[in-house]
Amino acid sequence: MSTSSHSYPMSSGDDQHSYNNNSSYQKAGIDGIGEKTRQCILKHFDLLNLNSNLSTLRIADFGCATGPNTFHIVENIIDSVKSTHVKENNVVPLEFQVFFNDQPNNDFSTLFRTQSPSSEREYFSAGVPGSFYDRVLPRNSIHIGHTSYTTHWLSKVPEHVCDKKSLAWNKNYIQCNNLLEEVTRAYQVQFKKDMKVFVEARAEEIVPGGLMIVLGQCLLDGVPLFKTWQGIVVDMIGDCLMDMAKEGLTSEEKIELFSFPVYFPQFTELEKEIEQHKSFTIEMMEIVRHPLEDTPLSNKVVISMFRAILYTIIKEHFGEDVVNEVFDRFAKKLAQNPIDFNECEKNVNYFMLLKRK
Ligand SMILES: C[S@@+](CC[C@H](N)C(=O)[O-])C[C@H]1O[C@@H](n2cnc3c(N)ncnc32)[C@H](O)[C@@H]1O
Repeated sequence: MSTSSHSYPMSSGDDQHSYNNNSSYQKAGIDGIGEKTRQCILKHFDLLNLNSNLSTLRIADFGCATGPNTFHIVENIIDSVKSTHVKENNVVPLEFQVFFNDQPNNDFSTLFRTQSPSSEREYFSAGVPGSFYDRVLPRNSIHIGHTSYTTHWLSKVPEHVCDKKSLAWNKNYIQCNNLLEEVTRAYQVQFKKDMKVFVEARAEEIVPGGLMIVLGQCLLDGVPLFKTWQGIVVDMIGDCLMDMAKEGLTSEEKIELFSFPVYFPQFTELEKEIEQHKSFTIEMMEIVRHPLEDTPLSNKVVISMFRAILYTIIKEHFGEDVVNEVFDRFAKKLAQNPIDFNECEKNVNYFMLLKRK
């Protein structure tokens, strides 16, 4: 069931450009569902039924990046489980073990360097390098799995999207922005394959009665990505690359062979895909509000956020000089053409709670 997976980690370290210092937008989304996550655990996680003698509760965060968001997530999960524990009047002292999963070239050293010291932490932690489009943990080993803002990253760019002879060729676009039907279809096929593998792998790792919590981004039904502000931003970065090609700083051929392995499904499309997997029941699946969705973001925040996410993948394909120049040009383009957040369609968040049968 494994798929080979390309890996483009978030910007490493904890300097001004790092994911560590530029993931507050994602953090706001995570905080926005903090109480919902807690209520879901209180309602759907039955510790006693799971194992009345349980002494170690195991949590995994899939696609944890470098922090600090993953730490907030696991602390919220632990607090919520402790409340259930108290509620159930369980006297066995419970210990927590947390598995932080991401691709092997993720900056795990920043992750572990920046987590609080073991004396101040309520859990034992371990890194699990490997693609979540494969099994990364032993069978029946995890009680609560979590992932946020990860599954739109596909295991690879769909075949044909970078093939000039194919109908699914993405031309000069660098993302699936839903402008070209055949391209969207190719991405859809890859997304379905990857989602299937993701869910099947988690079904093996999570114990019966265990939970999988997913926070992600999707599109409202009928909304194409190119009409959302995130879609506009990435198309603008693509335009900067094209400008550079015209000036001989990179080549059009290079751009034609490049497309992000990222796909945002429409909500119903995602729901249908998840419903097919019979190893989990869907306890909750809904669109959730991002706390900043009505707040126009400053250009500075937009640039830093996208730089932290896309720097590695652009650098790998085009080289270090090009990536620095692209983000300089993107800053100028954005200053000349500010995004009108009120005019854009929403690229929304979804929350999903799955329970292992
Ligand atoms: C936008 S970051 C989200 C990080 C964190 N979960 C958060 O909410 O802030 C996406 C993360 O998913 C990871 N990722 C993408 N594809 C992956 C895969 N196949 N296996 C494991 N991690 C993956 C990336 O390396 C990156 O760290």
